[in-house]
Amino acid sequence: MSSKSEVSKWNYTSFLINKNNNFNKKEILKILSSKDIDQAYKVISNWDNYCPTPLISLNKLNKRLKINKIFYKDESKRFHLKSFKALGGAYAVEKVTNGNKDIIISTATAGNHGRSVAWGSQKLGLECKIFISEYVSEFRAEVMRSFGAEVIRVKGNYDNSLKECINQSKKNNWQIVQDVAWEDYKLVPRLTMAGYSVMMKEISDQINNEQISHIILQAGVGGMAAAMVAGVAKYLDKIPKIIIVEPDSAACVLESIKTGNIEKISINKESLMGGMSCDEVSLLPWEILKNSVNYCVTVSDNYISETVKSLANCEFSDEKIVGGECSTPGIVSLVGMSNNSQIREKIDLNERSNVLLFGCEGDADEELYQKLLNQ
Ligand SMILES: Cc1ncc(COP(=O)(O)O)c(C=O)c1O
Repeated sequence: MSSKSEVSKWNYTSFLINKNNNFNKKEILKILSSKDIDQAYKVISNWDNYCPTPLISLNKLNKRLKINKIFYKDESKRFHLKSFKALGGAYAVEKVTNGNKDIIISTATAGNHGRSVAWGSQKLGLECKIFISEYVSEFRAEVMRSFGAEVIRVKGNYDNSLKECINQSKKNNWQIVQDVAWEDYKLVPRLTMAGYSVMMKEISDQINNEQISHIILQAGVGGMAAAMVAGVAKYLDKIPKIIIVEPDSAACVLESIKTGNIEKISINKESLMGGMSCDEVSLLPWEILKNSVNYCVTVSDNYISETVKSLANCEFSDEKIVGGECSTPGIVSLVGMSNNSQIREKIDLNERSNVLLFGCEGDADEELYQKLLNQ
């Protein structure tokens, strides 16, 4: 076994307080409604092999950080797709096609969303076209092919793959099932977020009336984070402090929270946390996040491999956890903030705190996972 990781030396990169924080349940549930959330749970909990993913106690890490409890929602066990994304894309495919078998589905993806859309299409016997950038691994492409999708690789980054997807879909009359919203495209991203909200329903059943004091949410374009905030509004009585974590190379939510407006950033180097390497927060999530977030924090890629190994080697919990690259930033940011006594005090993080983290994915990219384990 590797030597114990030195979490006492871990740092976050930047930290920001949201000056516009004003959590308003009613406003949030106007954007993703209680009805949308209930409907998603009703449908998804009836899918074959549905089972709530585990909520694991990081009972070794909380002792090291002097925090009461740390809950880790383990999405590596979400169906056989190994990430929370299984809940969103597949649900949106089912809702927008509504039994029509003649529709051809398309999407652009960093990997996990496409896997979900391909799976959802396959379940319903629909043809599916998936656009990926040059940064998406061949391993991830192969998994999408195994769910029956045609995978089309596009030169450039995620934006280029999305543009190509939109162009070809318009030309060929394909139904785009995208997890990002734009001006006249909001229904599908809303359905996707409704699908994700199943996680919060499960958590509210799993915490046994314990109160969560802090919730740390990873963000790419913000869909997952906003869906969890809506879930908090619907299911929790006491509102925890809401913290967004992003790669320091792709902090589009932090930059937007800083100015109070959506800011498009430039990504100079793609983060290893590929699903979170996004340059602009999506419209719908932004409407939820702009006033509900308390703090934003960014982290570097430096601690990814150590976190993956610590989870696998039972350093943070009694049980072994398979956590992929996007499962690490919640832990890294919590450790980094906890190591800074001023921040601990500012955000009320102490031995009475119960922190909720999201293990967004398992070894969804098995080759990268093995590389991180062996680094
Ligand atoms: C695998 C993966 N993809 C994407 C995201 C980002 O989701 P979103 O783009 O909805 O913010 C995450 C989590 O933050 C993730 O773990």
